[in-house]
Amino acid sequence: MNGKFIVVEGLDGSGKGTQLAMLSDWFEKRNIPVRFTCEPTDHPTGRLIREALGGRLRLGPDELAGLFLADRICHNSDPDGGIKALVNGGCNVVCDRYYYSSLAYQGMDIGLDWLMPANLECPSIMKPDVCIFLDVPTKIADERIAAGRESREIFEKIETLERVRRQYFKIFEQLKGHNIRVVDASRTPEEVFEDVSKAVGEIL
Ligand code: TYD
Repeated sequence: MNGKFIVVEGLDGSGKGTQLAMLSDWFEKRNIPVRFTCEPTDHPTGRLIREALGGRLRLGPDELAGLFLADRICHNSDPDGGIKALVNGGCNVVCDRYYYSSLAYQGMDIGLDWLMPANLECPSIMKPDVCIFLDVPTKIADERIAAGRESREIFEKIETLERVRRQYFKIFEQLKGHNIRVVDASRTPEEVFEDVSKAVGEIL
């Protein structure tokens, strides 16, 4: 039997890292096979993306969107530990960000005209079984970012967070065939995780 493919999304500062750590314990306690992964990846494409996000490499918005796309194809197709190989081999995969991030972050700059079909219709890019969106008001996201780190990446200004959040909801409206669970992530980590684990439990 194939594994399931679970994506966790959220604004920077949504508490995604905490929920992913709790989810990892949850799988471990139940002895369910799982691999945690993330985008951008550690492949060369992902490394270039991190340079751009850190402001050390200047890229146009189309170039950045294309790099994320290439990184995602690589992430799916890598015969050694790629998403497709894992899922087809019966392992569940939990991915920290996926094409929903591209549609939200890059989509707000360049629109969805080519970006949406390129990501959704690419035969090398798997459709997730569920996307869990950790939703927080941007003020809370901003406070969490401020408390956690000294320097900020390009998408972490509060006005940008607000635009990204709106764009996430806009694309969710359009993605009718997708299993998207919006979770109120402004609550305590334990309360949030109750909803996260329920969404995962339902598809396993
Ligand atoms: P990262 O440092 O991994 O942080 P986080 O914990 O927020 O995931 O940064 C990833 C950044 O990349 C984040 O600001 C969102 C952005 N991103 C895109 O713009 N498009 C994409 O397709 C993906 C996967 C991420």
